[in-house]
Amino acid sequence: MAPSIRSRLVPGLAAVLMLALVIGLSVPADAEDARNGAKTGNLMPGPELVRNLELSIKFMQSATRSASEFNQKAKALENEAYAFAILVQAGRDTDEMARKAGPLTETALALAAVAKKKNYNDAKNLVAALADFKKVESDSTPPEVNLGKAVPIRNLMEVVRDVDQELKKATRLTAASWNQRGKADEITNHANRMTALCLAMLHHTPETDPDAKKGQTSKIWRETSQETLDACLELAKAARAKNSAEFKKAYMAMDKACTRCHDVYRVEED
Ligand code: HEC
Repeated sequence: MAPSIRSRLVPGLAAVLMLALVIGLSVPADAEDARNGAKTGNLMPGPELVRNLELSIKFMQSATRSASEFNQKAKALENEAYAFAILVQAGRDTDEMARKAGPLTETALALAAVAKKKNYNDAKNLVAALADFKKVESDSTPPEVNLGKAVPIRNLMEVVRDVDQELKKATRLTAASWNQRGKADEITNHANRMTALCLAMLHHTPETDPDAKKGQTSKIWRETSQETLDACLELAKAARAKNSAEFKKAYMAMDKACTRCHDVYRVEED
């Protein structure tokens, strides 16, 4: 079926389409639907989001402490800035972000750009601006940013890879380690971060259907992003409850969803 089917919708066609849906033919979901379908209000509690942003800023500050530190960590800082923007967008329906999401996202994306250009002074200034995020306020309601356009898939997957390593480590923890002070919070933090990254994956749902010729559709992209997101919500829940068995189960579900998307969409270059 043509990917542009929605734009050609006429009332007569709508009835046919409804019938097609009823008898079980699926219509390719477009990226707009993926975005609209992604609820952000309940992805993570506001205070946990704030904690995530605070840790992110700590890293950014250490990466801009000196010019030489910056030169070594510019790439990591670029990715961290993207992660920050994604977290803010994932939490833009929380009270904590209601009056901040717009300017914070803009600043974080600007930071990613100057880090990529290795511009130390600008990076340092933008990190300082983000560090003051509790004071940032704007009058407008936070605009929804299309993370599919704002964050390159490559950067997104590099952040996903790093968080995945932390989550994988957590699947090997003993009960005693889970009970260490601050450990469950730390792991919840990683799970929340991955949840936010899944929102960006959903936004990356292809507008067109480049894989149609391989018998695949962008439906797989959307489905596997959503499966990853669902598994991440379970990961966070299990981490809060320090339930290592449930955590492992959710990790396996997440891992399966990663692979299902890669099987179709990831072109190996190595
Ligand atoms: C909806 C599809 C999709 C899902 C879900 C997905 N990925 Fe990816 N992933 C991709 C695509 C596409 C690429 C290739 C990106 C590029 O380099 O252009 C990729 C690349 C990667 C890479 C290589 C990045 C690098 O270092 O160059 C890693 C690692 C990775 N993904 C890990 C994961 C993990 C872990 C998960 C699950 C938590 C996951 N991915 C879920 C689509 C997906």
